[in-house]
Amino acid sequence: MLKVRPLEKLGPVLEVPGDKSCSHRAAILAGLSDGECTVTNFLPSEDCLNTLHAMEQLGVKVEELRRGPWGPLDLKIQGTSMTLSAPEGDIDCGNSGTGMRLLAGVLAAQDFESRLIGDASLQSRPMGRVMKPLGEMGANFVAEGEKAGCAPLRVKGGSVRPLRYRMPVASAQVKSAILLAGLFADGKTTVIQPAVTRDHTERMLSDFGIECEFNGDEISVVGGQMPEATDIQVPGDFSSSAFWLVAAAASEGSNLRIENVGLNPTRTALLTVLRRMGAKITTEEQDHSGSEPIGDIIVEGGVLRGTEILPAEVPNLIDEVPVLAVAAALAEGKTSIRNAKELRVKETDRISAVVNNLRAIGVEVEEFEDGMVITGGRPLQAAEIESHGDHRIAMAFAIAGLFLPEGEMVIPNSACIATSYPGFEDSLEAIRTGKEARLS
Ligand code: S3P
Repeated sequence: MLKVRPLEKLGPVLEVPGDKSCSHRAAILAGLSDGECTVTNFLPSEDCLNTLHAMEQLGVKVEELRRGPWGPLDLKIQGTSMTLSAPEGDIDCGNSGTGMRLLAGVLAAQDFESRLIGDASLQSRPMGRVMKPLGEMGANFVAEGEKAGCAPLRVKGGSVRPLRYRMPVASAQVKSAILLAGLFADGKTTVIQPAVTRDHTERMLSDFGIECEFNGDEISVVGGQMPEATDIQVPGDFSSSAFWLVAAAASEGSNLRIENVGLNPTRTALLTVLRRMGAKITTEEQDHSGSEPIGDIIVEGGVLRGTEILPAEVPNLIDEVPVLAVAAALAEGKTSIRNAKELRVKETDRISAVVNNLRAIGVEVEEFEDGMVITGGRPLQAAEIESHGDHRIAMAFAIAGLFLPEGEMVIPNSACIATSYPGFEDSLEAIRTGKEARLS
C-alpha cells in the first residue's frame, strides 16, 4: 500500500535505476557472446532479474560484482558462444512481455524444447505477434494459455530460416525477437517496421560487434555472426525519469536535475511533448561508453497547457502515457492522446485504467478505443487508485498525489512497482520533501 501526500518542496537532484529495455537485452546478448562481459547498472527489478535468471537456466554463468539497495547492480556474465543448454523446468518471465517475447526469439532457434510461463497479466497478453514470424522461421510454438494465443508457450526450436517480415504493429519487442532469432539463421533476416520503435537491440548488437543494415524502415541482420564479448554500461531508465519529469514540469518554481539518464531519441518523445506543453527542459549529454546516449535532464516547473500527441510520437512515448495523462490533468485545456491502441494490451488495459483513475480523482476525460482526450486544469481530488497490478499505473497516480490540494492518494496494490522501479517509494518521499534522491 502506498499513500502519497501533497508536495512540500520538490527535491533538487535525482538518480533513476538502470534502463529496463537495455537490461533485458544486456542479459541476453552477454549470455550469447563469446566471453566475459561486465554489465554495470543492470536494473535489479523483478522483470529484468527474471530474464537474467532465464539465461542462467539456459547455461549462462552470472556473478554479482556489486549491488546497492536499489541498484546499481553490476554483473559479470560469462557468455556461451551461442550454445545454450536445455533448461530444467519452466522459464518464468513473471510480469514481463519484453522478457517473454525476446526469449521466445532466442529459444525459437535452439535445438531443445522449453516452456515460457508468466503471471496472470502476462498470460493474457498477445503472443501471436511473435509466434507467427518465429513460426515462419521454422520454430514450433504451442500457446497453452486459457486465452487463445497466450502463454504458457511451449517452444520447440531448431535451425531457423532467414525471414523478411513486415510487422503489422509497431513493436520493438517483435522486431527484437525476430532479429535475435535471425542471429542463428543462415542468411539475412529483415524486419520492416510501420513506425520507428526503440532501437536498443540494434544499438546493443553493434556494441557486440554485429552490424545491422538499415534501409528506410527496414532493419536487417545477417545470421551466423558471433556476438563478441564486451562491457555494457546500462543508462538510467528514461521511462522511470518520466515520473519526475512530470512532477517537476507541473510544479511552479521547481528545478530538478535527473542524472545519468538514457537519452536515446527513440525513447524521449515525452521531452518534446512536455516542452510543447510549456515545460522548460534542457539536456546535457555526457561522454559514455557504448552506443546509447546518456546525460542529465534539467527541468524547470511552470504552467502547463494541453497538447495533441502526434501519431509518430506514440511509439516513442508509449510507456509514458499513464504519467503523460497525469500531466494533461494538471495542464490548462485539452490534451489528445490517440493512435495508441497498443496501450490496451500492455501490463493491463492502460487506456481503461488511466481513464477510470482520472475520473476517480475528478478529471474530465473522454475514452476512445485508441486513446483519450483529457480536459485539465481543475484541482485533483484524493481517491483510492486501482493499479490493476500495473507498475506504471501505480507510479503515475502516485505522482498525481503530489498535486492534491489536500488529503492523500491511496494506492493499495502498489507492490507491482518492483517490476520496473525498485526504490521508487524512497525516491518519491525524498523528492516530495525537498531532498536529494540518490541510489547509492
Ligand atoms: C519494450 C518495448 C515496448 C514497451 C515495453 C518495452 C522493449 O513494447 O512498451 O515496455 O524493451 O522492447 P512493444 O515493443 O510491444 O511496443
